[in-house]
Amino acid sequence: MSHQTRLLGRLCVPSFSCPGPDLISPHLTSRNQLPITMMLHVSSPFSAAALLLLASTVAAGTIDSFISTERDIALKGVLANIGPNGTKVAGAGPGIVIASPSKSNPNYFYTWTRDAALTLKALVDDFMFGNTALQVYIEDYIHAQAVVQTVTNPSGGLLPAGTGLGEPKFNADGSRFNGNWGRPQRDGPPLRAIALIQYSHYLIQHGEQERVKKAIWPVISNDLSYVGQYWNSTGFDLWEEVSGSSFFTTQAQYRSLVEGAALAKSLGVVSCTGCGQAPQILCFLQTYWNGRYFTATINGNTGRGGVDANTVLGAIGAFDINAPCDSLTLQPCHSRMLANFKVFVDTFRNPNLYPINSGISPRSGVALGRYPEDVYYSGNPWYLITLGAAEFLYDAAAQWSKQGAITVDITSLAFFQDLYPGVEANRTYKRCKKTGAFRQIVDAAIAYADSFVEVVQKYTPTDGSLAEQFLKIAPGTPLSAADLTWSYASFVSMAHRRGGEFPPSWVFGESTTLPETCAPGSVASTYAPATAAGAPNVTIGCTSTVLFVLNATTYYGENIYLAGNSTDLGGWDLGSAVPMQSSNYTAERPLWFEQIPLVAGTTVNYKYAREEDCGQPWIWETVNRTLVVPACVENSTAVLLETDEAWTGLLGTGGGC
Ligand code: NOJ
Ligand code: NOJ
Repeated sequence: MSHQTRLLGRLCVPSFSCPGPDLISPHLTSRNQLPITMMLHVSSPFSAAALLLLASTVAAGTIDSFISTERDIALKGVLANIGPNGTKVAGAGPGIVIASPSKSNPNYFYTWTRDAALTLKALVDDFMFGNTALQVYIEDYIHAQAVVQTVTNPSGGLLPAGTGLGEPKFNADGSRFNGNWGRPQRDGPPLRAIALIQYSHYLIQHGEQERVKKAIWPVISNDLSYVGQYWNSTGFDLWEEVSGSSFFTTQAQYRSLVEGAALAKSLGVVSCTGCGQAPQILCFLQTYWNGRYFTATINGNTGRGGVDANTVLGAIGAFDINAPCDSLTLQPCHSRMLANFKVFVDTFRNPNLYPINSGISPRSGVALGRYPEDVYYSGNPWYLITLGAAEFLYDAAAQWSKQGAITVDITSLAFFQDLYPGVEANRTYKRCKKTGAFRQIVDAAIAYADSFVEVVQKYTPTDGSLAEQFLKIAPGTPLSAADLTWSYASFVSMAHRRGGEFPPSWVFGESTTLPETCAPGSVASTYAPATAAGAPNVTIGCTSTVLFVLNATTYYGENIYLAGNSTDLGGWDLGSAVPMQSSNYTAERPLWFEQIPLVAGTTVNYKYAREEDCGQPWIWETVNRTLVVPACVENSTAVLLETDEAWTGLLGTGGGC
């Protein structure tokens, strides 16, 4: 069974003999052909942590004090953004993780399922490494997520088919967000499951198996059901911009099902509905490789080259200190992952792309952004990505140290050449002497990792605050959302790995075998509110879809919203009103429309409102509208009522700003 790994041994003398005087042996075996049990025995008796710590004192030293100070600031930064007591997020519900306290330019005062889950993963890690004060945050989060899972939203509901679980973000009080957004995003449920599964194992080991089974498993089970049902459906990527299949999402989906199946087994739970899909997801994961790197998005027209931090963040999310490097889970130390890492990092060495990276040696870390074509805030480096690159290298170095060997093949050769110019392909370098090639490569990788942290240090303000981005031109001023929770969480996680603190293993035997052919799949899953964790006992709502059609002449920059008395229409709150679509708008037929499922049989009061440009006040219609939602037809999403209305009230005028 998986267990917490915190290795604190010291460097000792190797117990196996090395084949040649140069400490290099030809790479003879394909470890893929060995059974998994043997592979795990290949690992050396040495402590990866000891090696990491040793190497980092040799290589760096200067960033040690930055890291120990900043780690503390980062953890406090995370907690300040969690309700109900977070000092920077007044109004956030208990256990709700706000993305950033920033309420404008950009407004990140919402909770994203992805950001929250990744943050909780770092908190669960920290808790397991001894920070017991974090338990209350974890418990609050579980409760909040059990409730949020039941909130019907523009992606759908929990019942009957789980579609609402793909909603990317919710308001700070956990209520639905009605605005336009890139939805659904399918990484939220697996990431949430991964964080909760790790915590569940801790509870089981501490005698709380029954509580896990009753209260937490139902939350996890909904998420795994969602993964099993929708992994082969397209959705928006982690940057919320392009629709397709996303490497990051697929990798998290696989991990969640493998871990979910193991948890179900240790709980004695009969079924994990989605888990049987895991081998097919693993098969699919391999198809992102294009011969040089992992293309971030496939099955979608992104108009991009596909080089993206997506894949590096995916790999650190899949990290398992005990996994072999050739594991199909695509660990940081996997040949293809290393090659991919080099392509990604080198892309940002281009001084035309990021002027602040000019003049940096090709063997030293640089500031990294999401992907080279990025235009969000004009496309800049992100703290969490630059820190993610450091974490990636600490992970790989720890895995080599754990295994006592580094295998270099033709795919990873260029990556290794940056670390150790004399390196050769098709060789396995074994740990034999403190001064051998193995040792030098590991040291160089750790020094390389440290150099990414140094980049972050350079662009971190003296108060230690971490925004989302920093400017790509000198002086690299922080920009976009201030105090980004995910930036802080990524610092904590990087610091754990650098310090040799590793979360429990999750890669088991199945990761070395693939189905003979990859096939798409989907399981018709079951969903239920996790009432023992505090979810309301929602039932299948009987809804009927209404198509709202409005004629309203608008100027360019003006938008129309629908507001009304029901929660799906935002409860008269303009901030939660439903944006209408204008894709069929013409001068002759100024059409605004939107389809909305509404509770059958209810009487709904509503009005349209104009959102003006240049910060001018909204304009409400001067008429009160009412409709009665028709009786529902089981399992039908067909439009059962269509309105045909004309704007009634004042018109707007462009502000000319
Ligand atoms: C907000 C998203 O979170 C961000 O990733 C994206 O770049 C912008 N919207 C623009 O689409
Ligand atoms: C924009 C990022 O692209 C997205 O990944 C994140 O979830 C949101 N900001 C909130 O932090």
